[in-house]
Amino acid sequence: MSNTAPPPTAIAPLDLAAERAALGPALEEAVLAVLHGGQYVLGPEVERFEREFAALCGVEHGVAVSSGTDALVLGLRALGVGPGDRVLTSPFSFFASASTIAWIGAIPAFCDVDPETGLLDPELAGAAIDAETRAVVPVHLYGQLADTAAFRALADARGIALLEDAAQAHGATRDGQGPGALGDAAAFSFYPTKNLGAAGEGGMVVTRDAATAKTLRELRDHGSPAKYEHAFLGTNARMHAFQGAVLNVKLPHLARWNARRREIAARYDAAFAGSDAVRPLRREPGCEHAYHQYTVRIAGGERDAVLAGLRERRIGAAVHYPTPVHLQEAARGWGYGPGDFPAAERLAAEVLCLPVHPFLADGDADRVAAAVLALTAG
Ligand SMILES: Cc1ncc(COP(=O)(O)O)c(C=O)c1O
Repeated sequence: MSNTAPPPTAIAPLDLAAERAALGPALEEAVLAVLHGGQYVLGPEVERFEREFAALCGVEHGVAVSSGTDALVLGLRALGVGPGDRVLTSPFSFFASASTIAWIGAIPAFCDVDPETGLLDPELAGAAIDAETRAVVPVHLYGQLADTAAFRALADARGIALLEDAAQAHGATRDGQGPGALGDAAAFSFYPTKNLGAAGEGGMVVTRDAATAKTLRELRDHGSPAKYEHAFLGTNARMHAFQGAVLNVKLPHLARWNARRREIAARYDAAFAGSDAVRPLRREPGCEHAYHQYTVRIAGGERDAVLAGLRERRIGAAVHYPTPVHLQEAARGWGYGPGDFPAAERLAAEVLCLPVHPFLADGDADRVAAAVLALTAG
């Protein structure tokens, strides 16, 4: 008999197999019903999902589209952003928050984020808005809502549009209000790894404004208010019926799944409470965090060594995001460089996202926390 201890089991960043098992036969039944029904694009499943997801956000209208990227593109277009307009967003996000601005011919502009939360700072945003700025796109990073009330006040004072990037914030609230409650529109992604994930690509724009919703519906369908009539240029960004059906099965579980994420986050918080080396990002008052990611900062240049140590222990930690948006190669022509946004650049060097998903056992969360503490002790 070998006296070598068996390697510890892997602790994955998410567990879609456990999620499928928890849903039982409902998921497969819903998909088969669409297959046999023959309505594959938009249709009743997508319409039901639009209604129920918009209701969860506390807003009247939901327009389902083919990805979170398209939700941002169409959201910008529906709010009147076009070529040459300047749009302010976060330099510390997934690339799509800014690239969608450039993709429609507008000009991405940045200001720095709060170094403790990674969220776009409304005061810095106020200073960065100029006469050419047409919209601001705060990002609800990791599942915590940016200070949307402050951005609303700013957008009103400066006469610009407010589009929330809510791709990571399903079910999150701030002062009781979800994405779309204060913004002119909010864009969601249902990429499979999100808190509410499709079995493929999917997205939605929610809005309180009926006219914006109408424009969005037309934009996702080649600018078409009626069959073979095209009032303006749009695209094909319609949600597939299979995705609507999958999302309808999952939606009733979202609140419970998010609550479990918060329990795990509280466990991590307690474990790291006495550590100077491992500092969780700050929670904002009044925020019901969706913990799409549970993120700590590891200072002193140690982050990559800790990440490597966790991977050796088969713990699925990750860095979202190792390079700030303004330093990406594709952003070279946007006029920014190293040192422009010190908080974003420092976060990119320090953040570490630990496994947090609804099917993570307490014991596994404790093992992750113990490993992080052990790796930072020396
Ligand atoms: C903050 C943010 N914005 C936009 C997107 C784009 O969404 P999608 O991948 O569905 O196109 C994502 C998805 O990863 C995201 O995290």
